[in-house]
Amino acid sequence: AGHWCGSDRKGIPMTLHPGLASVAGLIGTWRGEGDGEYPTIDSFRYSEEIAFTDVGKPFLHYLQRTWSPAGAPMHTETGYLRVVDGSTAEFVLAQPTGQTELAEGALEATAEGFTCFLASRILNSASAKHVDSTQRRLELAGDILTTHFAMAAVGVQMTHHLKSVLRRV
Ligand code: HEM
Repeated sequence: AGHWCGSDRKGIPMTLHPGLASVAGLIGTWRGEGDGEYPTIDSFRYSEEIAFTDVGKPFLHYLQRTWSPAGAPMHTETGYLRVVDGSTAEFVLAQPTGQTELAEGALEATAEGFTCFLASRILNSASAKHVDSTQRRLELAGDILTTHFAMAAVGVQMTHHLKSVLRRV
C-alpha cells in the first residue's frame, strides 16, 4: 500500500515483487536539502531529488540528482537496490566521477520504516579521484528519508561527506 507500481508493456498493472516488501516504502520521489563537507574541500549545501522506481523485477531503480543553492547541477548517481532474503540490501551504484560502488548491508525494520547501514567496495577509473571505500546510512521513517554518506578518499581515512533530509513528494 502507498506505493505506485507501473504496468507491463500490455498495460497490465504490475504487483511489487514480494522480495521488495521491506523497502516498498522507498518507492516514489523524494526532495530535500543536504550539507556536505570533507577535510580537503570547502563545505557546501545542496538540494537533492531521489527517485526509487519499481520496474516489475526484484530490484528498484535509483536515480539521485543534486543542485547548488543557485540551481546549478551538482552530483548525480544511479543504480539498483537489490534485497536478499528481505534483510540484506545490495546497492549497485554508478558514479559519473569514475567510480563504481557496490554497497552492502543489513536492513533493520523500525516502527515507521527501516534503517540500513551499507559498506562499500569501490572500483576507480584511471582518471577518477581515488575513493577507497564508502559508508552509507539510509533511514526511512514514514515520509522522511535521511541519508548519510562517508568515504575514505584522496588519502583521508573514513570521514563524513554528506547528510540530507528528504520528504516524499
Ligand atoms: C568533492 C559534492 C557525492 C566523492 C566534492 C566537492 C563537492 C562535492 C562540492 C568539492 C569540489 C569538487 O571536487 O567537485 C558532492 C555532492 C554529492 C557528492 C553534492 C552528492 C550529494 C559524492 C560521492 C562520492 C564523492 C557519492 C564518492 C563515491 C568526492 C571526492 C571528492 C569530492 C573523491 C574530492 C575531494 C578532494 O578533491 O579532495 N564533492 N559530492 N562525492 N567528492 Fe563529493
